[in-house]
Amino acid sequence: MDKFVIKGGRRLTGEVSISGAKNAAVAILPAVILSDEPCVIENVPSISDVVISLRILEEMGAEVTPAGHDAYRIDPTKITKCCVPYETARKMRASYYFLGALLGKFNKARVSMPGGCPLGDRPIDQHLKAFTALGADYTLSQGMIDLKASKLTGNQIFFDVVTVGATMNAMLAAVKAEGLTVIENAAKEPHIVDLANFLNSMGANIMGAGTDVIKIRGVKHLHGTTYAVIPDQIEAGTFMVAIAATKGDAIIKNVIPKHLESITKKLEKIGVNIEQFDDSIRVWVDSPLVKTNIKTAPHPGFPTDMQSQIAALLTLAEGTSIITENIWDQRFGYVDELRRMGADITVNGKVALIEGTGKLMGAPVKACDLRAGAALIIAGLAASGITEIEDIYHIERGYDCMEGKLRALGADIEKVSVPDKPAAKEAKKSSVNRAADNHQPAAAAAV
Ligand code: EPU
Repeated sequence: MDKFVIKGGRRLTGEVSISGAKNAAVAILPAVILSDEPCVIENVPSISDVVISLRILEEMGAEVTPAGHDAYRIDPTKITKCCVPYETARKMRASYYFLGALLGKFNKARVSMPGGCPLGDRPIDQHLKAFTALGADYTLSQGMIDLKASKLTGNQIFFDVVTVGATMNAMLAAVKAEGLTVIENAAKEPHIVDLANFLNSMGANIMGAGTDVIKIRGVKHLHGTTYAVIPDQIEAGTFMVAIAATKGDAIIKNVIPKHLESITKKLEKIGVNIEQFDDSIRVWVDSPLVKTNIKTAPHPGFPTDMQSQIAALLTLAEGTSIITENIWDQRFGYVDELRRMGADITVNGKVALIEGTGKLMGAPVKACDLRAGAALIIAGLAASGITEIEDIYHIERGYDCMEGKLRALGADIEKVSVPDKPAAKEAKKSSVNRAADNHQPAAAAAV
């Protein structure tokens, strides 16, 4: 079992480069299945969710070969299986994109119900609504979702809630369906636009991605392409907050500043200075941080995936801040851990009240999900003394070499291997959310 050991109190300074976006990569990799030729995907982050996605592709018969730094050549023409078994699907939420991609290509798919971070109820009714609107039938049995269609036909799909996953899955399934598909109340996140751009670069005809109405005219064939994944908005936001929490001064490179607007605006309210350049930003703090209120919302609102990180920062700000979580039922799992570090936070339903104490103390803590883990790292960097973070496999699902990047900015952070106790070993084996250890695809292991 690995853990992070952080000696807090060091200002982050220098430069850091952001990797490709997790939530774009985990949709684009399955989307390669739709192509009739090999594709090269660049700027792919080295995270365990990507390792699992590549491994699923390999298990289906696709040929995956490294194609340079953070790039893979994927040949989907040899795919013979349309099934993603429980053993791999359970390890990440985004395995549901194999449903849309396989259905779109082969008119059938068999995928285990997805796993992922424990954030509360995570239904997939809107995904199924989209697939059935396009002509597919589904059955759910023994934890597997089976989709079948004699033919996919374009249709109107109106989502009852704004959902990233179902919007992307509808795009994947509709891209080769006959006729016009209109997705209404679509999600508008940067990764939706990235998936549309990728599919269009293979010859798809998708318009309106990034607005709440997406129109897709089905095409018969998709060809090979070379495509670079966008930079990770949430990784960039996490570094912005980490720099602010340590009262540092650093440049974050390889970002799209427009994608960071909602985060930038809130940080400026808190008293953080941000200067934007074409594809980089400078973040620094030269005055005391102050309280603010935040409500998470779908893009272009403040992202739920930055909620825990900014909460860690607000524990250091003067005054009482209020955070309202509007997307997930259980995204305050980090609060108990931050309390162990001296934070004063009260949670009532979807609202957290943070009394800024101005300081945190190091403590042993546990990451309960990916972004909670990021929040604990931020808290540990700002705290006095030593913070030890357990269960960092959650963090490694979505952050590419977090400790290395932080060390380059001057942080005192180490990844330490601790031998498993026998009981912990058993728990680890059976944990449904255990990430990709021992699941390196040959290709990923080679780079
Ligand atoms: N929802 C439904 N029915 C559905 C699908 C979603 O009711 O069929 C509800 C959910 O319960 C939730 C809301 O709609 O309340 C939004 O869910 P969404 O479908 O947008 O979330 P997701 O696709 O499962 C992605 C990201 C999450 C991120 C959310 C919101 C991926 C792989 N995951 O999840 O990322 O929090 O969008 O932006 O793209 C993370 O990176 O830490 C993470 C959890």
